[in-house]
Amino acid sequence: MTVWSAADVEAAATRGATLRVGPRDVVTPLAHERARELGVTLAAADDADRATLLPSRPPPSCPPPSRPPSSPGPPPSGSPSPALFRRGAPLPTGLAPARPRGGTPTGRVIVVGAGHVGMIAAMRMADADVFDELVLVDVDEGRAAGIALDLTHTAALSGFATRVRGVGTVEEAGRADYVVITAGRPRQPGMSRADLVSTNAEIVGDLACRIAVTSPDAVLVVVTNPLDEMTQHAWTCSGFPATRVLGMAGVLDTARFRALVALEGTGPASTVDAIALGSHGEEMVIPLSRVREGGRPVAEVVPPARVNAVVDRARGSGGEVVGLLRSGSAFLAPGTSAARMVLAMVRETGEVMSAAVLADGSYGIRDVYLGLPVRLGRHGLREIVHLDLAPDELAAVREAGDRIRERLGAHP
Ligand code: LAC
Repeated sequence: MTVWSAADVEAAATRGATLRVGPRDVVTPLAHERARELGVTLAAADDADRATLLPSRPPPSCPPPSRPPSSPGPPPSGSPSPALFRRGAPLPTGLAPARPRGGTPTGRVIVVGAGHVGMIAAMRMADADVFDELVLVDVDEGRAAGIALDLTHTAALSGFATRVRGVGTVEEAGRADYVVITAGRPRQPGMSRADLVSTNAEIVGDLACRIAVTSPDAVLVVVTNPLDEMTQHAWTCSGFPATRVLGMAGVLDTARFRALVALEGTGPASTVDAIALGSHGEEMVIPLSRVREGGRPVAEVVPPARVNAVVDRARGSGGEVVGLLRSGSAFLAPGTSAARMVLAMVRETGEVMSAAVLADGSYGIRDVYLGLPVRLGRHGLREIVHLDLAPDELAAVREAGDRIRERLGAHP
């Protein structure tokens, strides 16, 4: 699937006024408008022309490969393609580089999407008081501004000095060190994460392109579902190195599993040591050979049948919450998990956590985003960590990579 923007329409106009659009592609409303203005025909592509998320990098919807200078440097010169801007939005402003404070890495973090997940992620990161500024971005500018003001009102209560703003576009937000992308449609009862693919690919692809212009050195943390696919899409559209495009799900899935083990009456969740790998969904893999409770193998503490039930429940936890809420999806644990990833980078904790990253041959998997054990650093992925897995666990992680690759429409 490819997301076609107004810039693609303009490029097509110079090539002969025809844009070949695959059956699974998304054409943005602005692209339709531009096509009408320029008399460009949106023609159905045959199978051979069908685009996928994977093979072309950058895809047609992305800005040209030339990038604004890296931080710390002057703001990007010239305005990016008008197609990348919401009409009427001001040009990038306030592109200040990160400012160190008291030896602690600081700077600006942007949270795109002021829904429940974005709001919780913002609150956790403001409370941590590690950034000079946190900017909430939402197409509903009033909502972003309202939540930002509400959060600002908690500064004395929580003891943070971080400034919080809410704006309507990433361009207004300015240059950031980290961008958390939560924007997109949430699941409703009866929907799988995969049901969101076309709608959310358009949103995430457009954002990744624009963020590449306004925050060329940022680390992206993608939260939008379907997680693994959207993270790969953001990587493709941003043109960023894969070390700077990460997906949040493994932290969440791990936390859920640890909480659910604790519900078995063993001890607090913090004493459960585990990691969730694979996909954020059906192919979630929790290697039981590595699960410890209070330092002991989980099998010594929880009956195997119960452990398996907990794994199943962890895998279905997102859906379980969706079913209970009846409208919208989980936000407390997802927002906290996204913040946890950013804070691990800012604070350089060096902890091993699970994140959706581009496999580099580790675990026998290559060129697909999925949940793997990683160490993060100030500038994103520091390393994929090797953990010894049982043969069936390793096979399940590889299988997850294959399934995600299939869904991306690419060839292994
Ligand atoms: C969930 C969403 C974030 O698992 O995927 O709740």
